[in-house]
Amino acid sequence: MQHTYKAIELPAINTNIIKSMLGLRLVEKPLPEIGEQQLLVKMEAASCNPSDIAFLQGTYNVKKTMPCVPGFEGAGVIVACGSTLKSKEWIGKRVSCFTQRDKDGTWAEYFLADKNEVIVVGDQLDAQQAATFFINPFTAWGLFDIALERESKAIIINAAGSQVAAFMVALAAKHGIKTIGIVRKAETAAMLANHGFDALLVSTGEDFAAQLKAIAWELEATTAYDAVGGEATGQLVNCLPPDSEVVVYGGLSAKAAAEISIMQLIFNNVIITGFNLNDWIELADTEEFVEVKEALIDLIRSKTVYTRVQLEVPVTDVVKGLRTYITSMSAGKMLIRF
Ligand SMILES: NC(=O)c1ccc[n+]([C@@H]2O[C@H](COP(=O)([O-])OP(=O)(O)OC[C@H]3O[C@@H](n4cnc5c(N)ncnc54)[C@H](OP(=O)(O)O)[C@@H]3O)[C@@H](O)[C@H]2O)c1
Repeated sequence: MQHTYKAIELPAINTNIIKSMLGLRLVEKPLPEIGEQQLLVKMEAASCNPSDIAFLQGTYNVKKTMPCVPGFEGAGVIVACGSTLKSKEWIGKRVSCFTQRDKDGTWAEYFLADKNEVIVVGDQLDAQQAATFFINPFTAWGLFDIALERESKAIIINAAGSQVAAFMVALAAKHGIKTIGIVRKAETAAMLANHGFDALLVSTGEDFAAQLKAIAWELEATTAYDAVGGEATGQLVNCLPPDSEVVVYGGLSAKAAAEISIMQLIFNNVIITGFNLNDWIELADTEEFVEVKEALIDLIRSKTVYTRVQLEVPVTDVVKGLRTYITSMSAGKMLIRF
């Protein structure tokens, strides 16, 4: 095994995303010591998600000691394991990985994982789908469970060009639940025309609020999912029929929730809650988690739904890749390939 490896390093957070991205540098690091309970993963690919962008800007809740290797998610093969782990059980296994701990992340040729930071996927998923498996598909599942529990006949999803939204639409179709998507650009609505939404609205369009309210009441959409925050949270709260829930799970606008009708909260029992994948994973017992994993793998393998990837870049071109991703997020993920 080689003694050093290439990694992308972030020297410091910068609230200006372009400056933060330009600060990223390619470094050579010595292979780390493997702790008793740890796994060394030789990475095949690592993803970039909105949470990575927020992290680079210092607006995410995960903070790391600087300098650090960013990257919360990826995939690779386990090449070594700690002394108290059975090597037969781990070495050679292909895994999807996820970490939000204060340590080097996945944007590197090697990633040191804890046992609970990997999901074994074997050869069931290709590198693109394995590298994007741990976060969004499970998030969509956990979010969609809320609509099932609430027995909603329809759901509303903003930032509907996202990969989380794609998985939620597939789950909704399976359960006969209707979907109303909201996007901010007409071109994204056009791109999503045949992607299974029952209705698609453009939030910048004329009469958007009235259209949203009309369709929400008509389809009895009593669960809405907000990945945007700012005024979008208020738009969702204000359009919903009584006894509805807005689940906030992202802050793409980087703004505090605003314009929320107090009357909807007081007199129509509309509630606002939050969702965090980490909490959901902790609540899922092992058996349930394995069942969800298998169901999601089946959906991806059958091409019912899968994560769109718009470009793959080598470790030398990460900044170029990030620039493309942040200007056209609905087109799909950017992956770093090692
Ligand atoms: N809470 C959790 O545990 C959890 C877990 C996973 C993901 N998430 C959240 O889920 C959301 C979607 O993630 P993803 O990986 O699926 O996204 P993605 O595939 O990378 O796509 C991002 C989408 O957001 C849209 N968008 C970006 N900024 C926006 C803004 N200010 N207003 C409206 N739309 C905007 C983009 O549209 P354009 O093409 O118009 O830019 C694109 O459709 C993110 O907020 C992410 O942080 C939360």
